[in-house]
Amino acid sequence: MPANPRAILGFVFIEEASLKNYDPCKFLNGLFDLENKVAVIIGGAGVLCGAMAWGLLEAGCRVALVDSNRKKADAHFQRWKSPPEKAMFFKADVTQRDQVAKIIPAVLEWFGEIDIWINGAGIAPPKPYLEIMDEEFEAILNVNLKAVHFGCQVIGEHWVNRGKKGCIINISSMAAIRPLSRSFVYSLSKAGLLNLTQNLAREWAPHGIRVNALCPGFFPTEQNRQILDKQRIEAIMRLTPMARFGNSKELIGATLLLASEKAGSFITGANLVVDGGFSVMSI
Ligand SMILES: NC(=O)c1ccc[n+]([C@@H]2O[C@H](COP(=O)([O-])OP(=O)(O)OC[C@H]3O[C@@H](n4cnc5c(N)ncnc54)[C@H](O)[C@@H]3O)[C@@H](O)[C@H]2O)c1
Repeated sequence: MPANPRAILGFVFIEEASLKNYDPCKFLNGLFDLENKVAVIIGGAGVLCGAMAWGLLEAGCRVALVDSNRKKADAHFQRWKSPPEKAMFFKADVTQRDQVAKIIPAVLEWFGEIDIWINGAGIAPPKPYLEIMDEEFEAILNVNLKAVHFGCQVIGEHWVNRGKKGCIINISSMAAIRPLSRSFVYSLSKAGLLNLTQNLAREWAPHGIRVNALCPGFFPTEQNRQILDKQRIEAIMRLTPMARFGNSKELIGATLLLASEKAGSFITGANLVVDGGFSVMSI
């Protein structure tokens, strides 16, 4: 056994050399450098994607919030005190292909480029399985899956045609890996989104486009308020090793990792779970 087992791997020398002029801020800034990158955040007026957008803004990105709800986006901008050269809003119903296609020219006109694309619009109306009407089934798949397909196709074509690298983050859900009661179509849509993410990660890796999913566990927001009754909250707490809900800001670290060209350079096709341990709960 050598004195220092890590010397076998040959990297102990690199560590020691770099520690001589060690500047943690410089190191972290370099690793997670997002200065002036442009991020399009679909569903950005909402709670979780709003927090992710704020995190990207704080990390130096310029952000374009795309949403059907302008009022909620304006409320974010007021809270963030973000100047127009750093943050813009584009109103779109992302279930409509022509409206998704218009996002790109609008953001290019404002910011000149697009580096990061987050598909985060989602709806989750709860229903017992036998009561789901066809219209509702279609409405959920339209927002949670078809809109993500439109987003990936539109930005993928833009980047591939220009030989530009990029990063897509699709907002998945615990429901994709653990189908959730009263969320049948939602679970189905999020499982489909995960499959699309993996498929595109393989397809576009040669083009320098990374495609990942970010998988939140349970975060109380407007969207799931109707489904979170006392009984369900107790069940979630029992099944979450950390025994609490997530806070939207707890998605920022994972977002920056996936978005960063350096820190996330070899990450593609992943489903990054942020769930307080829900998905690994056992006896
Ligand atoms: N809250 C949770 O616990 C949780 C857990 C896992 C995954 N998610 C996912 O995270 C994402 C954000 O969820 P949230 O809880 O912040 O919900 P939210 O309702 O606060 O945000 C969703 C946003 O999507 C927008 N949107 C809906 N339909 C749209 C459309 N057709 N066109 C444009 N915008 C549209 C809404 O206006 C809203 O601003 C969703 O994809 C959701 O499924 C949430």
